[in-house]
Amino acid sequence: MEQFNLKTAVSFGPDALTALEELAGQRVMVITDDFLARSGLLDRVLAHLPGCTVERYTDVVPDPPLILVAQGARKLANFKPQAVVAFGGGSSMDCAKAMVEFGKKMGAPGEIRLYAVPTTAGTGSEVTSFAVLTDSEKGVKYPLVDDSLLPHQAVLDAGFLEKVPPAVTADTGMDVLTHAAEAYVARGANIYTDALAEKAFVLAYHNLRPAYESTGESPAKANMLLASNLAGMAFNGAGLGLCHSMAHALGGRYHVPHGRLNALILPHVVGFNAANQGTAAKYANLARLCGLSPTPRALSFGLNRLRAQLQLPQKISACGVESRTLKADGDAIAAAALADLCAPANPRPVTAEDIKGLLKELA
Ligand SMILES: [Fe+2]
Repeated sequence: MEQFNLKTAVSFGPDALTALEELAGQRVMVITDDFLARSGLLDRVLAHLPGCTVERYTDVVPDPPLILVAQGARKLANFKPQAVVAFGGGSSMDCAKAMVEFGKKMGAPGEIRLYAVPTTAGTGSEVTSFAVLTDSEKGVKYPLVDDSLLPHQAVLDAGFLEKVPPAVTADTGMDVLTHAAEAYVARGANIYTDALAEKAFVLAYHNLRPAYESTGESPAKANMLLASNLAGMAFNGAGLGLCHSMAHALGGRYHVPHGRLNALILPHVVGFNAANQGTAAKYANLARLCGLSPTPRALSFGLNRLRAQLQLPQKISACGVESRTLKADGDAIAAAALADLCAPANPRPVTAEDIKGLLKELA
């Protein structure tokens, strides 16, 4: 039996925040970072929580460490919210998901509705059962995966993307493309996830550069927010693959932005996976849908060209990771990537030697 599940309601368009108003009068914990809390953008969210008793948690940091999540979960358990609003990028949403999960174990009421309001077009976390946390001491990223982490409501308001710096648009946008490309060929892919992945990939491929180059609010940024959401639904159903397992292993160790790593790794993983005939045909189809020659090589070329247009690093050494460091850490990185939850979804079986070979290509 195959299955495709839906849980999260999605509100989008200019009045999407109105969806929060059903929480009127409730105890609501808003989870965000300090920058957003001071930027004035948080006020737009709070304006849609009439009569609520609001507790603000503004301590989220990038790559949320386990210790921070544990502290936040304790605060959540003490406040006993009826609902949580996660406001921010992937780190805020993932931190909120984990805080709700752990907070329930610490005595918070079992029924807490989770609303996710993304402010970047990247992780698609507002519609996934994934939360990526970091063990700072061990330098390892842990993707948690459980249906209980799925938000009840995703609220897509492209106005929040207005002031996202171009470099962040580039990093997060390449993450969107990677989610779509990996979900499309993942072992768990089916006709529903394929439909979502195709639309997400083409939308992101055509809109990422205009979004990167636009200032203020733009249709391209709004399309990237939709692409991120569609890609999130795709990989939530299909899984990801080798690119993400390597990005988690490298990101946990060297603290390079997640999307930047995906942008470097994905073209090489396309080449590696294309040895599978069925996978090669799907990559060729993605290339065709984007107006490229219908081959995996053309898809890799298109991704490399886009990465250059976004002025992202072309080699991992430009991210501060020397090739001799990468070589010395090769066994540990390969082991971490193989142990990562995303690895089993990759369409082609992969060994430690394969990963070390790909690391050489990145250097
Ligand atoms: Fe990702």
